[in-house]
Amino acid sequence: MENYHNIAVLPGDLNGITVTDAALKVVKAAENKLTRPIQHTRFDYNADYFIKHDMKELGQKELDELKKYDQIFLGAIGDPGKIKPGILEVGILLKLRQAFDQYVNLRPVILPDGVPSVIVGKTAKDINFEICRENSEGLYVDAGWIEKKGTDEEAGYQIMKCTYKGVKRLAEFALKRAVERKKADKPVMHFVFKTNVLVYAASPWQRVFEEYKNRTDIDVRYMHIDNFLMQMLINPKQFDVVLTENMFGDIATDAGAIIQGGIGTAVSGNINPTGSFPSMFEPIHGTAPDKWYGADGKYDASLIQQVKPEAAFLSYAMLLEQVGEVKAAEAIKNAALENVRNPQYKEKTLDQLTDAACNYVKEA
Ligand code: IPM
Ligand code: MN
Repeated sequence: MENYHNIAVLPGDLNGITVTDAALKVVKAAENKLTRPIQHTRFDYNADYFIKHDMKELGQKELDELKKYDQIFLGAIGDPGKIKPGILEVGILLKLRQAFDQYVNLRPVILPDGVPSVIVGKTAKDINFEICRENSEGLYVDAGWIEKKGTDEEAGYQIMKCTYKGVKRLAEFALKRAVERKKADKPVMHFVFKTNVLVYAASPWQRVFEEYKNRTDIDVRYMHIDNFLMQMLINPKQFDVVLTENMFGDIATDAGAIIQGGIGTAVSGNINPTGSFPSMFEPIHGTAPDKWYGADGKYDASLIQQVKPEAAFLSYAMLLEQVGEVKAAEAIKNAALENVRNPQYKEKTLDQLTDAACNYVKEA
């Protein structure tokens, strides 16, 4: 083990760069709470890089470079003014998740104490669960074909690949998580899929569920994804740890972000539990508009001040938890939540929020 944490930083584009810079300031403020110092190395894998090198996806050179690091911190990618939406998402984000076998996308749905939920009457006691999104297969394996393109009979097919090994290793991770969380005396684990319709892809899900369902130490249940989304809104308290297919998890966690205080507070850990490759931590990306260019398409520094950096702070805190830096993680997490709880939160500028978090961390 090195005597420092070796962290690769991928700020990405636009807001991604903004929130990464803010997060690194807060991490710096937490320096004295670390057991080992952190060394950050920045990589500009973003729209400009892809254009300059005429790339469609990260190549072996970039992957070989990144795999040397303990963990990766990612801001956000995509700059529609420069590159067609979808290219960087697939060529960087999905590429890294797959190449580094980050097979769990851990997305907590936890409403912080004192933050109002959009669900009237629900408080922190009601919304406290984690979604383990399968992150290496499912509908996002990039397989399919198009028939009779351009004719009236055009048909597009997209493959949802679910494997026994894939579901099993996700279930193992979720189980461990459920035990560690200690939400209730008996942890609850929900398998979420759509076994009534997607009968082929459901086969491994059902098989793994059967293996788990009679455990006595844990309450193992099954729910269809459509029902799950509804239950998440009317009775979120019943959930503890949920595991689901890649696309179902993608959709469910955007909804989850909204009920836990907004997309600006939602974090995501792309985890390789074996440690054979680095894991990657990033804010959850929903529909956050970029805050670099005004309506006239010109760069506008004052707009950037509207960006909320808390999801990046919380993502970095999750990274720190992963490497065992509990004290620093806790301080950064609390600093972010303190910001979100502030009644004037919406009106605060990016710099004010970053400074407040730095001060909080220093005094913690
Ligand atoms: C997310 C995003 C990505 C995903 C996109 C950008 C590829 O929506 O992290 O949830 O679908 O996984
Ligand atoms: Mn998403």
